[in-house]
Amino acid sequence: MRYCNDRRNVGSLPEHASDVGTGVAGSEACGDVMRLQVRIRHGMVDEVRFQTYGCGSARAASSLVARWIEGRPLEEALEVRNSAIAHELGLPPVKIHCSILAEEALRAAVADYRSKNAQQCGG
Ligand code: FES
Ligand code: FES
Repeated sequence: MRYCNDRRNVGSLPEHASDVGTGVAGSEACGDVMRLQVRIRHGMVDEVRFQTYGCGSARAASSLVARWIEGRPLEEALEVRNSAIAHELGLPPVKIHCSILAEEALRAAVADYRSKNAQQCGG
């Protein structure tokens, strides 16, 4: 499977930048952790970086999500579902939580971006 060793989007973005959102998700099932960051420009996902401390399926899920959402409108990025990730990667039922981790980290990253920018507008 080609995504588990795909390092294109591995890394981090400056966490305090106002156009960067950071999301962290952890799996109770196995203790693995995924940190995913998005940089939003003009309503588009401009850059995605992740650091995943987990199994091959979790790394593959983060890499796939990064490739799916980069260059797409923020609203479309939020439509990514763990079921689509699991299907694309052919994950067995025991590995479904690895794809849930990716969806949760993405949602948390977008929520972080939005709360940062809501605060700015509120002055
Ligand atoms: Fe690498 Fe499945 S993509 S183990
Ligand atoms: Fe824990 Fe995949 S994230 S087994």
